[in-house]
Amino acid sequence: MIPKAELHCHLEGSIPPPLARELAARNALALPDGLFGPDGTYVWRDFLSFLAAYDRVCSVLKTARDFGDVIYSYLARSAAQGAAYVEIFCSPERPKALGIPYADWLAALAEGIDRAGREFGIVGRIIVICIRHLGPERALRMVERMVAEPHPYVVGFGMGGDESKYSPADFLPAYRLAHENGYGCTVHAGEVLGPESVWAAIRTLPITRIGHGVRSAEDPALLDELARRGTVLEVCPGSNIALGIYPDRAAHPLHRLIAAGVRVTLNSDDPPFFHTTLGAEYDQSGLPEAVLRQITRTAIEASFVDATSKQRLLKGVQP
Ligand code: ADE
Ligand code: ZN
Repeated sequence: MIPKAELHCHLEGSIPPPLARELAARNALALPDGLFGPDGTYVWRDFLSFLAAYDRVCSVLKTARDFGDVIYSYLARSAAQGAAYVEIFCSPERPKALGIPYADWLAALAEGIDRAGREFGIVGRIIVICIRHLGPERALRMVERMVAEPHPYVVGFGMGGDESKYSPADFLPAYRLAHENGYGCTVHAGEVLGPESVWAAIRTLPITRIGHGVRSAEDPALLDELARRGTVLEVCPGSNIALGIYPDRAAHPLHRLIAAGVRVTLNSDDPPFFHTTLGAEYDQSGLPEAVLRQITRTAIEASFVDATSKQRLLKGVQP
């Protein structure tokens, strides 16, 4: 099996339908109306209804332990697919709405990461992620909390949500605070919106990675700039196709990004929503094994894990 590493997967977006049912039952919560279609998969139509479906899945979570079990479960499945390292986007907005203290939420996530590490040897880390359409104030409060209560497994800061809301400059105070305190930074851009969204992100924010960024392929000057800067794209082909950004893998720009010298990684984003997995992304990439091994090395190099762990992980994926 080709060794793998993943930089872009959302915690609640990793919950498969059976786990959502199990958590709802354990918490004595009714499953939200319209969550599942007749075939038992999550129902959504387009980007905004996907974000709404994502929120519906979150409603099965109630306790800190739930969050720990979700991360453990995802890491266990990732390890079975050959992943040595996984960074997961975890939003403090969900536990906050449930009244779970930040430190308790992180302790539960860390317990899940440690359990998966002991059982499967996989290394997991947390990227705290803000939700763009909730606005810059909430993002800044989030980073203030992250900085005030540091945890060794929280290694970075990112932003997902509706890319059409606000501009990167609105979030500069949050990003600057994260960056100045040593957190690696990434931002979703060039997923739903075109190259101008990626230009705005790289010109404004202290980031070394872009979540998606695939629509950069529409602008040769932007591809040159990304290659020159060494900015790493967290590419999620299955997600892009499921969301209708590209009709199929043949039309997806993954190969063109690589040909342009842009550093790319392969990721699953919200795997059960998009009927994909990290393993499927590697298998269906159409790339030769040597390139896939390089993609794993790029992911580890671009990860926000501490330098010692990074060196150990890189040694572990040498051919
Ligand atoms: N949140 C979860 N998945 C996302 C995606 N693909 N884009 C933006 N925000 C997200
Ligand atoms: Zn994402």
